[in-house]
Amino acid sequence: MDLIKNLQWRYAVKKYSDESVSEDKIDQIIEAVNLTASSCGIQPYRLFVITNPEVRQRLGEDSFNAQIHASSHLLVFAGFNEITNAYIESYVEMMEKQRNLESGGLKILEDTLVGYFSAQTPEQNTIWSDKQAYIGLGTALIAAAELKVDATPMEGFDPKLFDEVLGLSEKGLHASVIMSLGYRDAASDFLSSAPKVRLPIDEFSIRIN
Ligand SMILES: Cc1cc2nc3c(=O)[nH]c(=O)nc-3n(C[C@H](O)[C@H](O)[C@H](O)COP(=O)(O)O)c2cc1C
Repeated sequence: MDLIKNLQWRYAVKKYSDESVSEDKIDQIIEAVNLTASSCGIQPYRLFVITNPEVRQRLGEDSFNAQIHASSHLLVFAGFNEITNAYIESYVEMMEKQRNLESGGLKILEDTLVGYFSAQTPEQNTIWSDKQAYIGLGTALIAAAELKVDATPMEGFDPKLFDEVLGLSEKGLHASVIMSLGYRDAASDFLSSAPKVRLPIDEFSIRIN
């Protein structure tokens, strides 16, 4: 399977070349994330795609990760701060339209979701949104590898700075996790030729037959 070969090829790049990733490939990575699964299917995060050099310089100010500014594109997976009734209603309305159902056809689902999320604390809903954003991150990593685009998933960033620079709080969002995209500078990245370190499959995976 090519996927396994491509996952063996990928690694978390530390040093990128100046080469840009084409917009067509970026669009495919975004589409892959949009197509991935989320719990209850309501996609409680948004994906920012940032190329602006000044914005990226500011975002990377407090981080040891030079990849925040020194790469082709930066993706920011931004989780919802709240799961509001209004959001659930509008999402369910969209579902009804996309599935050609009459208005109110998914009322039971809507009431169930409203009941469930309004019974959670804001902190629980934030953690839940972050988990969904991480599924997006995993999908973006796989999509990038399939396209032979290099990527670095990163938690080493200042979420408060990201919120401030990108105006996330006003949008009801917060930075959950980020990822750079680009092409490895193999000659100056010490990890480019390092063997991949993973557990033996039998230790990692436990089969119960
Ligand atoms: C959620 C997450 C956060 C990570 N944060 C960073 C980071 O801030 N900086 C970095 O250089 N690598 C980061 N990594 C990359 C990991 O260190 C790397 O994936 C791991 O060592 C396995 O190596 P490989 O991905 O190269 O196979 C992160 C990976 C994940 C999944």
